[in-house]
Amino acid sequence: MARTRLVIDTDPGVDDAVAILLALASEELDVLALTCVAGNVDVDKTTLNARRLLDLAGRRDVIVARGCAAPLVGELDEAGDVHGVDGLGDIEWPDPLTPEGPEHAVDLIARLAHEAPLTIAAIGPLTNLAVLLARYPGVESRVERVVIMGGSSFAGNVTAAAEFNIWADPEAAARVFSATWPITLMPLDLTHQATLDDGDLAYLRGLGTEVGRRTAAILEPYAAYHDQWYGNRDVIMHDAMAIYELLVPEAIEKQGAHVVVETGGVHTRGETVIDRRRGFAASPTRVGVRLDNVRFVSFLRERLARYPLD
Ligand code: RIB
Ligand code: CA
Repeated sequence: MARTRLVIDTDPGVDDAVAILLALASEELDVLALTCVAGNVDVDKTTLNARRLLDLAGRRDVIVARGCAAPLVGELDEAGDVHGVDGLGDIEWPDPLTPEGPEHAVDLIARLAHEAPLTIAAIGPLTNLAVLLARYPGVESRVERVVIMGGSSFAGNVTAAAEFNIWADPEAAARVFSATWPITLMPLDLTHQATLDDGDLAYLRGLGTEVGRRTAAILEPYAAYHDQWYGNRDVIMHDAMAIYELLVPEAIEKQGAHVVVETGGVHTRGETVIDRRRGFAASPTRVGVRLDNVRFVSFLRERLARYPLD
């Protein structure tokens, strides 16, 4: 079976970390690069965290590219309290051996897309992708599809209306959703169905692997944050949904929709307006609706267990 040529555009981020480790454990995906963007923490930290994760996964073959340091409009407003000050749970890490590549994230994505059809998993703010569209007109025809974790059909997580990845750069998101490339969107109303509980963290700790121990460790502050905000420690695997969609598309029920992003709005800036009316049933933009968490967790456990034992 042909492997999917994949770039993961990311702001690691502890749930980004799970998504990245899932992708790297899956032979179906040819992960070419991690392109980093400011989001959960600044781009210095997201780029360093990408290098740390590739060291952890033993995948120094994957290119790390630094991307945009700020949204198209305004300033970066980090989510550090959710992912820790360093963006990766504030645990100790050795200095990474995986180097930072010489190319800017946008130029690397364009080069890889020019070489052969490319899939992009976008699991952070969409600034890099908006700049890609502006700097390389027509690049979207070289992209097979963009799987985006972002947005929400009903309630946001940063404001009542806006989800973080969209809220962090609404102008970039609006540009990305108005391009002609096929988009598969994993909004909050889907991702909130995908959670790991303390039993799953204990399973990871007990795997006898560095990946298992570190994944459980970085998710601990995230579990405490969930307890504070949602009243339980079940950690929501937002970003892993983009990778799960690439690996087991039939496991996520989807429907056609038309998606636009509110960039004005005193109270609604960053809202995704997802139009699911029947007229959009055949839209190339597909939106995740439903999944079975038992099936997802079983799949994730099996894949993360593939990393080498101590
Ligand atoms: O709203 C969830 C998204 O915001 C995820 O990508 C998470 O990593 C944060 O960036
Ligand atoms: Ca993210």
